[in-house]
Amino acid sequence: MGASNYEKFKSDGTLAGNVLEWVDARFPLTANWKAHLSEYYAPKNFNFWYFFGSLALLVLVLQIVTGIFLVMHFKPDASLNSAGVPVAFASVEYIMRDVPWGWLIRYMHSTGASAFFIVVYLHMFRGMLYGSYRKPRELIWIFGVMIYLALMAEAFMGYLLPWGQMSYWGAQVILSLFSAIPLVGNDLATWIRGDYVIGDATLNRMFSFHVIAVPLVLLGLVAAHILALHEVGSNNPDGVEIKKKKDERGIPLDGIPFHPYYTVKDIVGVVVFLMAFSIIVFFMPEFGGYFLEYNNFIPADPLKTPPHIAPVWYFTPFYSILRANTVNFFWIDAKLWGVIFMGLGVMVFFLLPWLDRSPVKSIRYRGPLFKGALVAFVISFFILGYLGILPPTPGRTLVSQICTIIYFAFFLLMPIYTALDKCKPEPERVTQ
Ligand code: HEM
Repeated sequence: MGASNYEKFKSDGTLAGNVLEWVDARFPLTANWKAHLSEYYAPKNFNFWYFFGSLALLVLVLQIVTGIFLVMHFKPDASLNSAGVPVAFASVEYIMRDVPWGWLIRYMHSTGASAFFIVVYLHMFRGMLYGSYRKPRELIWIFGVMIYLALMAEAFMGYLLPWGQMSYWGAQVILSLFSAIPLVGNDLATWIRGDYVIGDATLNRMFSFHVIAVPLVLLGLVAAHILALHEVGSNNPDGVEIKKKKDERGIPLDGIPFHPYYTVKDIVGVVVFLMAFSIIVFFMPEFGGYFLEYNNFIPADPLKTPPHIAPVWYFTPFYSILRANTVNFFWIDAKLWGVIFMGLGVMVFFLLPWLDRSPVKSIRYRGPLFKGALVAFVISFFILGYLGILPPTPGRTLVSQICTIIYFAFFLLMPIYTALDKCKPEPERVTQ
């Protein structure tokens, strides 16, 4: 609706018009609708890569809604029931077998966790393809990396809750990493666990963080992410700033109102996503042991360490970086180096806006150096991810060490190769 149409609607004497007028006098409903939807001008050349932001929002809502229903039946209790099974584990089995539609809610939530990471990884990769982290979108990117960190914490704590073997031993591996920190490490690990071993206290606090604290942080960060986006406007596959060329009404020449054009277009992405999501939920919810590990269908047993402990697929690139550190160096032992590099592996994303010196944003106009570096980075990320699933061997450790070097070189050498690269000139206007 054009600006004047809203005024006409409010004064047309109908009940709906009167209600809107009443609300608008008390709350900026029409003003916000316009600012963020009907008069938010988005570049007209978005391609499929631009589906993943709205899909991330959809998955976030899906996780919250299915999570609310899971909490109605789940019991965060590590004590053993009369059958000798941990109550938490038994309550998940109860959801799967006895709660009407419980299996569907649970599989939607567990598949949703992996879907979230698939969508967010593709969303981040789009940002790297089109230089969406560059000025003036640095804060959108920073909020994004903070979301990514919060999401990792959320997924780690969620995986602990069913209290299966992988929940227990995965948490054992990750929480014991804190003890690698000099001086305070052991005390810190005990403080985080709430006990000398992983137990009921750990389960209760992970539950509390997973259902309340981290989701609140996530929602706040997503709101900040979108507010920052709407302040500066979206980038696009050409990396051209559409706000530089406006018509006499101040509307970008290459912009179209987000609503109805992209609200409708995003429905296409939603339908395709829901089709793929449903196929997995209904026909392969464990996804070959990648989305739900088979060992996690066995109740947690503190006395029986599984022969091979691997995190879920979305953590494995960083797990590989952790294990690639095998040398004690500079009075710091290999385990601590692993923890440091694993942390840096995520944190280095924060620096991306300042490492990139290219005169252009989009991959379409970048030169061979950036393109080659990006391909090498993506390949090494996949190899690290794959190796993180497998038990280590000397050969695999060597490959993961090489890939770790490529991973960090992509970031640290970026100021050099992006400055030297031979880029094509960016067009004045978007090309499609
Ligand atoms: C819960 C997770 C997230 C949600 C719900 C979310 C949501 C969105 C939405 C709705 C958009 C606008 C549509 C689009 O451009 O696709 C967007 C844009 C953007 N997001 Fe996210 N996002 C999330 C995570 C992330 C992460 C982890 C990063 C990076 C580390 C990131 C970086 C960006 C950037 C740079 C843009 C601007 C893209 C452009 O204009 O080209 N986001 N996000």
